[in-house]
Amino acid sequence: MSREGALAGVKAVIDAGPTYEDIDPVRFLGNRSSGKMGFAVAEAAVQAGAEVILIAGPVALPTPPGVARRVDVRSARQMRDAVMRAMDGADIFIAAAAVADWRVADYSARKIKKGPAGAPVLELVENPDILAEVAARDPRPFVVGFAAETDHVTEHAREKLVRKKLDLLAANRVDENIGIGTDDNALELIWTDGSETLPRAGKSELAKALVARIAAHYHARRRA
Ligand code: C5P
Repeated sequence: MSREGALAGVKAVIDAGPTYEDIDPVRFLGNRSSGKMGFAVAEAAVQAGAEVILIAGPVALPTPPGVARRVDVRSARQMRDAVMRAMDGADIFIAAAAVADWRVADYSARKIKKGPAGAPVLELVENPDILAEVAARDPRPFVVGFAAETDHVTEHAREKLVRKKLDLLAANRVDENIGIGTDDNALELIWTDGSETLPRAGKSELAKALVARIAAHYHARRRA
């Protein structure tokens, strides 16, 4: 671990991967996040000298070398609790996880059976917004969000930056070929009075560029 990097002496909490919302003991609601981007960001942050706590949803990825602690979780509510426990004394929070927006209202402890009544109707309830909750903390860390959008990427991302009170938002376009579960990505970085494009690159190269920008903005805010 570097003691001289752009994030030396900084404690960063990073969440990554999908969450799974169980319906019954064999079924769940999930999404296509692989966790690769968040893990690459964790690795780049370690290389920049940060002390990194990585909160991981269900992914099949090894822990990047030098990560101080990894906590594995499954559901959005478990991820929220793990993030909040890790936040004490943290300087930066990077929300790279694809947190499920909804979970089923009533988990069935028994496998739901097919039957004459036909297909079940699942009632969904909203999950906690981890990012917005961290951004509302006092003292408030430097907060970085991600936004995966299929259309009007910049407009939706800017609205999200304001609504969730973020310092920086990394937005990417999602279609079948790029963005989620893929090996490369492009990001539009957005903050209150500016934006910058990080061009399409492998996730590890892009993560290094992103961490360098996060460090620059973090230090600029501390100087302000
Ligand atoms: O609103 P949307 O889900 O597009 O926002 C994406 C950003 O918010 C990501 O950084 C994601 O990790 C975070 N998020 C969260 N908790 C949720 C939903 C999203 O932390 N329940």
